Amino acid sequence: MIPIKNKMAIQKMQTAGLLVAEIFELLKQHVVAGKTTFEINALIEKELQKRNLVSSTKGYKGYKFASCISINDEVVHGMPSERIVKDGDLVKVDICASWKGYCADSARCFFVGSPSAIALKLAQVAREALDKGIAQAKAGNKLTDISAAIQAEVETHGFGVVRDFAGHGIGKQMHEDPEILNYGKPGKGPVLRPGMTFAIEPMITQGNYAVYVAQDGWTVRTKDKSLAAHVEDTVLITEHEPLILTKINPS
Ligand code: MF3
Ligand code: CO
Repeated sequence: MIPIKNKMAIQKMQTAGLLVAEIFELLKQHVVAGKTTFEINALIEKELQKRNLVSSTKGYKGYKFASCISINDEVVHGMPSERIVKDGDLVKVDICASWKGYCADSARCFFVGSPSAIALKLAQVAREALDKGIAQAKAGNKLTDISAAIQAEVETHGFGVVRDFAGHGIGKQMHEDPEILNYGKPGKGPVLRPGMTFAIEPMITQGNYAVYVAQDGWTVRTKDKSLAAHVEDTVLITEHEPLILTKINPS
């Protein structure tokens, strides 16, 4: 069952989304060479607190941090550590937090110093794929219209779509029904209705889409060590165009 949110729930998710988006704005100045991912996470913790946001990842299945920070061939779920980010790194930051009990989930790519052409392209295609997916998040469409749009955009550019992780419904819980695959045929699954809220999150690779979970039990990495990009927005399905809740100026 995909929950339909009422006005109150939507307003709270909207606030959560806006506040999380503010933190991502701030992060642009802080994901810089010489910082440890621990320090970046500490800043995120502080900024969440300031805004009365409660991390949804801290304590989730034993995960200890308020963010996931994944670098280069790490796709998602990288754990903050003493590792120092350096020039040329492609850094993905993922934050999920709730405001008055309602969650917003978002991820962005950051370049440390000047990005390589391929890192830039990969991040651009991930963003474009997310936008194409969001454009399908319309009342009356089927769930996998989102999936197919994402896959088409990524594969047109010769990149890989990660199969082992997916987007998800979101609300009171970080993860709700449905699972939103980033690949597949269009026209399948439940019909989308106004009031549904989805975290859509393409995870894409420069090379093969195969990934594995590292020794630490969390970090997801590409098997071929190729670069990966990940972006995520929380989106509300409306009577009209989809509304991106995790953007400061939604278009
Ligand atoms: N935002 C991530 C997601 O949607 C949350 C990561 S799960 C964690 O899957 F346990 F690593 F925090
Ligand atoms: Co998510």
